[in-house]
Amino acid sequence: MKKIAVFASGSGSNFQAIAVAAQAGTLNVEISLLVCDKPGAFAVDRAEMLGIPALVISPKSYASKAAYETEILQKLAGLEIDMIVLAGYMRLIGPTLLGAYEGKILNIHPSLLPAFPGKDAIGQALAAGVTKTGVTIHFVDEGMDTGPIIASTAVKIAPGETKETLQKKIQRIEHSLYPEVLEQLLNGEEEAVQWEKSVH
Ligand code: GAR
Repeated sequence: MKKIAVFASGSGSNFQAIAVAAQAGTLNVEISLLVCDKPGAFAVDRAEMLGIPALVISPKSYASKAAYETEILQKLAGLEIDMIVLAGYMRLIGPTLLGAYEGKILNIHPSLLPAFPGKDAIGQALAAGVTKTGVTIHFVDEGMDTGPIIASTAVKIAPGETKETLQKKIQRIEHSLYPEVLEQLLNGEEEAVQWEKSVH
């Protein structure tokens, strides 16, 4: 069975959705480790509830990003990780991790990239007054929410939509799309999978 490490910084609802799909058998992977850069984040509580090992590691305790990522690499060594899955990990991946896991790091972002990269993509879309936004899953490179796109799903922004209602719609899609894409990428027959879904 393929093995993944999930990286999260916050609530960890995507991490949980992946873990639940793995438990249900719709996603055939083992989550070998949760890596969390924010001590106290709810993602760590979820890992405990799900029985998944967690590494809580604060970048502030390291002299450089390279030193911080080297420590993560050491913890991943021996776990035979096939893919690193960023799920609300709010930190740029540096050359140390990128070099070690080239083409093997995925990210999910709550917009139709390249629109609205970075923090608060949902707030950015609402402020811009667009009528649709969405969810994008892509390979990670050195940029902020850049890298080749694997899948995206559009979401309509209804009149009177609030950040809370839009976030709910977006997260519902994220929680089904991420396990689906992971299953295709790690266990699918096609080498390159690319698909786009219609507006919800
Ligand atoms: C998700 O909506 C994810 O798309 C977003 O953070 C949220 C994490 O939620 N990621 C980014 O904005 C990356 N730039 P979660 O902790 O409940 O999974």
